This record gives sequence, structure tokens and C-alpha cells, in this order.
Amino acid sequence: MDVFQIEGPVQLSGSVSINGSKNASLPIMAAAILTGGKSILKAVPNLSDISVCGELLSQLGCTVSKNANGDLCIDSTVVDNPVGDYEIVRRMRASICILGPLLARCGRAEVSMPGGCAIGDRPVDIHIRGLRQLGAQIHLKNGYIIAEAPNGLQGCDIFLGGPFGSTVLGTANVLMAAVMAKGKTVIESAACEPEVADLANCLNKMGAKITGIGSPRLTIEGVEQLQPVEFQVIPDRIEAGTFMVAAAITKSELRLRNCRLDNMMAVVDKLRNIGVTVDSADDGCVVACNGRVRPADITTHPFPGFPTDLQAQFMALLALADGNSVIVEKIFPDRFMHLAELNRMAANLRKEGSAVIVAGVKKLIAAPVMASDLRASAALVLAGLAAEGTTVVNRVYHIDRGYERIEEKLNPLGAKIRRENV
Ligand code: EPZ
Repeated sequence: MDVFQIEGPVQLSGSVSINGSKNASLPIMAAAILTGGKSILKAVPNLSDISVCGELLSQLGCTVSKNANGDLCIDSTVVDNPVGDYEIVRRMRASICILGPLLARCGRAEVSMPGGCAIGDRPVDIHIRGLRQLGAQIHLKNGYIIAEAPNGLQGCDIFLGGPFGSTVLGTANVLMAAVMAKGKTVIESAACEPEVADLANCLNKMGAKITGIGSPRLTIEGVEQLQPVEFQVIPDRIEAGTFMVAAAITKSELRLRNCRLDNMMAVVDKLRNIGVTVDSADDGCVVACNGRVRPADITTHPFPGFPTDLQAQFMALLALADGNSVIVEKIFPDRFMHLAELNRMAANLRKEGSAVIVAGVKKLIAAPVMASDLRASAALVLAGLAAEGTTVVNRVYHIDRGYERIEEKLNPLGAKIRRENV
């Protein structure tokens, strides 16, 4: 199992290119099921979650390969096994987003019910409710969601809100089912995340008729057939936000290329409020910080609010702020596995329900720590860049799910991270 040995504190400088978005790529890969031909996806990052999704599509019958340019090619001419196996779904929850496209393409699907994970319960009830409203008959058997629509799906008006607001993959699933349903579907309380908009843009390029993209009301006119496409996924706003925090926590200046600030306004606003400079530049931005950051109150919300996927990284940053901050988690109220690990590095964090009081300290001190989920592990790496001594981050496989060789991106900027297999 790989671990990171991180020597700190370091200063960073230079320029880094942000990858294509993991969370945009996964549903777009699933959308390829709908076309019955060979789609070419550009800028899909090289991550373990993407490989798992490729494996899943191969099990369905698709052919998944890379071309000479490194683009991901998905040929869905054959989809003859509409089953999302437990062995794959338990490795990656996002596998659930094949449910909608399989129903649309094959009229049936069996997908293992995802369990909880380190960040919470993560139910899929809203996905199922939305698909039922489109006419699918759905029941649970042996831990599998069995969905059938022998007479096809029928467009309708669907309210897709839940106790914590909209759902990203729930919207993706229902949207992918609705594009080939008969008649018109309106999804109200749709997720507005840029990754959902990217999926909708890709579906429209395939020939779907979706309007209201990026808004909470999506209107879909069903079509009979979709065509394969060539499509480039958007830059990863969470990877970009992580590198912005890397600049801030090391009191450094970094240039980010392939980064879209218009998808990150809540994050940029927060950074500016705590004393970090973020200036847009060609194809990206320059992020600079020359002292201790000021404290802040952060509450996570669905887009365009502050993203839950950057909560842990900002906790690491605010742990070193000049004063007290409050971080409230409104999407996954238990997503605080990083808290105890950061406290092992001499942070002063106290959980109160779904909030954390962050009492800023002057320095972090290196320690052996345990990564628990993708973003929590990113927070530990960031803390390790600023902490005094050698931080050892265990279970690096979590970070490999969402960051492509992060040490190979950080080391040329001045980080001292060694990957070791122990
Ligand atoms: C997506 O997960 C992302 N994953 C997550 O990123 C991200 O944290 C999350 O959206 C929120 O932004 C991918 O895109 C692959 P949700 P998703 O459904 O779609 C509740 C990362 O680190 N809910 O939008 O599964 C749910 O419990 C990952 O890259 C229901 O109650 O999240 C949560 O409180 C982790 N019933 C809220 O809605 C449902 O049926 C939002 O979750 C579905 C969700």
C-alpha cells in the first residue's frame, strides 16, 4: 500500500495545469451507453475511479480504449449485459449513474445498491423516485436495484429536491433516462453543478433536446435516438481549488492553467476575503498569499454555493488562520473524518453537530496520519506541505481516486513528497 512522506514546511512557485473533471467525466462516460456507437471523450483524467468506470462499461458490453492522443473511446454498439455488479459498485458509488442510461437504452437494468461510505449514508432514494416517475418499475432484490421499463419511459414533471437540496448524480441519472423518453420532461430542483451542465451539453451534442442547462429547471424534449460524439470535459474545479489552497497554505504564488474561475466564484470569494489574491490570467489564474490568512465562516451548499468537496482542504487552511473560524457542512453532515487527523498535527478543531469550530494555530506539526476519503486525504497532504517535520499520509489510494499523481504535480513546484510502497 502506498504512503506519502511529506517534508514541510515548503514554499511553492511555478505553474500547474489542472486536469479534466473527474465528476464531469463519470456521468459523461455513462451517457455514452445511450448512443450505440463510438464516442471520443477528451481531457478525461487518468484516475482509478475512471478506470473502474471503464471496467463497469466493459462488463455491460461496451469496448473502452484509449486512442493515440490519450482520448477515451467508448464504443457502445453492444450493450447486452445491463448489470452493475456489486464488486464494482462497492469500489465506486458513482457507478449508480449507469441506471438511467441503461433503462433508456435496454428497457431494464440491475445495479447493485450502493452502501454508505466514509462521508455518510448517501442514499439513492431520489434517483429511484425520479426514474419511477418516468414510468420505470423498480424493486430491490438481493441488494440489487432491479429497474424495468418494458414499454419505454414517458416524460413528465418531476420534482427532484431532497432533504439536503438537489442531487448531482440523481439529476444526471434522471436526465439521462429522460432524453430518450416519450414526450416532454421537466426536472424541477435539478442540480446546477457545472458537472451536470457539462453532461447536459454533451447529451445535446449527442442530439438530445435539453434547455435550462445550469438552472434548477431542466426541460427535456424526448428524442428517439442519440449519436456518438467527440466531447471535451470541463476542467476540474475541485482540483483547481485544492491547488489554490496549496498556494495559500504555503504562503506562495502559483499559476493555474486550464482553470475556470466562473465555476468557482464562491471559492474565489472566500479566498479573497481571507487575504489570498486570485487574479484571472489567460486560461486560468494566479493565486498568491504572503502571510497568515484571516479566519472565515464557511457553509457548504449546492452550486453555486461553497462546495462540500473543498470543505476539508479549507479546514486545513483555516487551521492556520489568525483567529477562529466556523465551518458548517450542509451536504454531508458527517463529512469530518479529517478533523481528528488534522488535530494529530496540532490543529485545534472541535466538532459541534454538523459544524466545526476552527481555532487558528500558528503552526502545524508533522505526524503520521490516515487518509479516510478522497478530499480528506487532499486536506492532509496540504497540511503536510505547511507542517514542520515529516508527515506520513497512509492509504494514499484514496487520493489517487481523484487526483492524478498529485505528488508529481506538486514536487516540481517545490513540494517534497515521496511516494513509498510499504
Ligand atoms: C456528487 O455525489 C459528487 N460525486 C460528490 O463528490 C460530491 O460531494 C456531491 O455530488 C455533492 O456535491 C460525483 O459527482 C461522482 P448528491 P452525489 O446526490 O451525486 C442527499 C468527490 O469527492 N441525497 O448531490 O452522490 C445526499 O445524501 C465526491 O469527488 C439523498 O438524500 O451527491 C446528500 O446529502 C464525493 N437522496 C445530498 O443529497 C438521494 O437519492 C447531495 O448528494 C441522493 C442524494
